[in-house]
Amino acid sequence: MANDSLPENKMPVIRVPAMPSDLNQGGTVFGGWIMSQVDIAGSIPAAVRAGGAIVTRAVDSFEFKKPVFAGDLVSCYADVIKVGRTSITVHVEVYAQHMDKGVVTTTAVTEASLVYVAIDKHGKPRSIVR
Ligand SMILES: CC(C)(COP(=O)(O)OP(=O)(O)OC[C@H]1O[C@@H](n2cnc3c(N)ncnc32)[C@H](O)[C@@H]1OP(=O)(O)O)[C@@H](O)C(=O)NCCC(=O)NCCS
Repeated sequence: MANDSLPENKMPVIRVPAMPSDLNQGGTVFGGWIMSQVDIAGSIPAAVRAGGAIVTRAVDSFEFKKPVFAGDLVSCYADVIKVGRTSITVHVEVYAQHMDKGVVTTTAVTEASLVYVAIDKHGKPRSIVR
């Protein structure tokens, strides 16, 4: 099994254990659950950068590189990589830490790029240019 390293000098925006209720029929974690965690994780730095409400506008890329198993500790790291007039693009990296018999194995499992748009009270795009 791969043993990747968690990113150094960075804090995950989300850490959550995958539960048995999150599994698909094949016994690994359902991709939709991972997508949800990624969307939540990406929205955090986007909302902070926007200083207000945002919505997910697009998922530019999404790659499930390795499976996640029940009990794995899932950590999502999210970085703003681009800021437009109203949009914020965030790159999210997900790691799973599998703990078994006293050994922790870390695996880079998912990577995605998402575009969020700042919105005003009418749900219309809002400029975030400073
Ligand atoms: C977000 C929303 C308000 C944007 O309205 P819109 O008419 O598409 O706005 P625009 O065309 O002006 O695009 C807004 C920004 O998104 C970017 N954008 C639009 N479509 C995009 C796409 N497919 N990929 C990447 N960026 C995109 C534009 O380039 C623009 O960025 P910029 O201002 O930084 O240059 C509208 O699309 C919407 O309400 N979508 C539904 C959102 C939603 O329900 N999400 C799920 C739940 S959070």
